[in-house]
Amino acid sequence: MNAPLRALVFGAGGMAGGEVLRLLAGHPSIRAEWVVSRSRAGSPLWNVHPHLRASFPDLAFISPEEASDLTPDVVFLALPHGASFPWIRRFRDRGVKVADLSADVRLADMNEYERWYGAAHPDPELVSQRVYGLPELYRDALAGTGLASGVGCNATCAILGLFPLSRAGLVEDVRMELRVGSSEGGSEPSQGGHHPYRTNVLRVIEPFRHRHLAEVIQETGIPEERLLMSVTAVPFVRGVQMFAQVTLSKKCRESEIWSAYRKAFEGQPFLSLCPARPAHLRFPDPRLVLGSNRCMVGFALEGDGRRLVLVSAIDNLMKGAAGSAVQCANIMLGLDETEGLAMIPVYPA
Ligand SMILES: NC(=O)c1ccc[n+]([C@@H]2O[C@H](COP(=O)([O-])OP(=O)(O)OC[C@H]3O[C@@H](n4cnc5c(N)ncnc54)[C@H](OP(=O)(O)O)[C@@H]3O)[C@@H](O)[C@H]2O)c1
Repeated sequence: MNAPLRALVFGAGGMAGGEVLRLLAGHPSIRAEWVVSRSRAGSPLWNVHPHLRASFPDLAFISPEEASDLTPDVVFLALPHGASFPWIRRFRDRGVKVADLSADVRLADMNEYERWYGAAHPDPELVSQRVYGLPELYRDALAGTGLASGVGCNATCAILGLFPLSRAGLVEDVRMELRVGSSEGGSEPSQGGHHPYRTNVLRVIEPFRHRHLAEVIQETGIPEERLLMSVTAVPFVRGVQMFAQVTLSKKCRESEIWSAYRKAFEGQPFLSLCPARPAHLRFPDPRLVLGSNRCMVGFALEGDGRRLVLVSAIDNLMKGAAGSAVQCANIMLGLDETEGLAMIPVYPA
């Protein structure tokens, strides 16, 4: 048996970093060798992630300084926006494969980056090396790169729901509402995210143009003026659901929509369609994918053949972050892309 590949995880004390570690705990070919935290260096990983104690009884956080000269097989960067790119540069210059989770190299167009993130990108050359981190769209390109970008969780839910329609040239316009759980906000406490204010909430966070819209435009090619993306905080911990009202570019029969989705989802291990019946299973509830790397999509076509309701669901920490990052790492490392990702959703939850 080959020795496991060694992973270095930055932001390991955070929400998405913890999920990367949960996945690596069960990964047959990649081992979490080093975990990095600025604030917790020297303390055991399980102090922050108690559910991982049995998997990593002796693993302790190291500081970024201790990590900087290591040469792992793969680096996962679960760092806030703006903190990843110096580390990407450092490890890529040494030929180490990097799966980023942040927004630092998600956008390919530097003008768009500046528009959506409010500052010029500090390292455009780095961006030119990266492949957007969704294997469902870029499997072949990921196999030939050393840098997979992060993906926005809301963007992932929207893109995976929409790409079969956009590829088939069927989209006139889309109004989508993303319903999001609290773990999307990360582990740092905030006024809006504090338990008494976040529990039982139904709060519209963004009415029209959430930042992740930039990724949806980039990956579906649907023009910005034909897209709206609102985001609403809802009372669950994990999960994202997109509820979209789509105007189709031409009158369609339901069978045409089914075949566009079947064609796009063929050979995609983590994408599935909801059944047309029974009615209560026609659209995906995020609870049906919790803890897994899956994305489910359901739709209904109005009698006019033009108006479509489209619903997709993912676990934001999995397909929307750590699951996609591990899937990308598998591909970049020449492993089967599903390794370590075969978990069945937890249900009921
Ligand atoms: N949460 C989600 O559902 C989700 C989904 C998709 C993508 N993401 C992306 O994943 C990344 C991490 O998100 P998260 O939700 O895990 O956030 P988080 O819980 O706040 O974790 C981020 C970690 O990064 C470390 N950190 C903070 N500021 C840093 C800095 N300036 N330099 C270096 N390290 C820093 C922190 O640990 P120390 O201070 O101890 O080092 C912290 O534990 C973000 O870029 C986010 O956009 C998250």
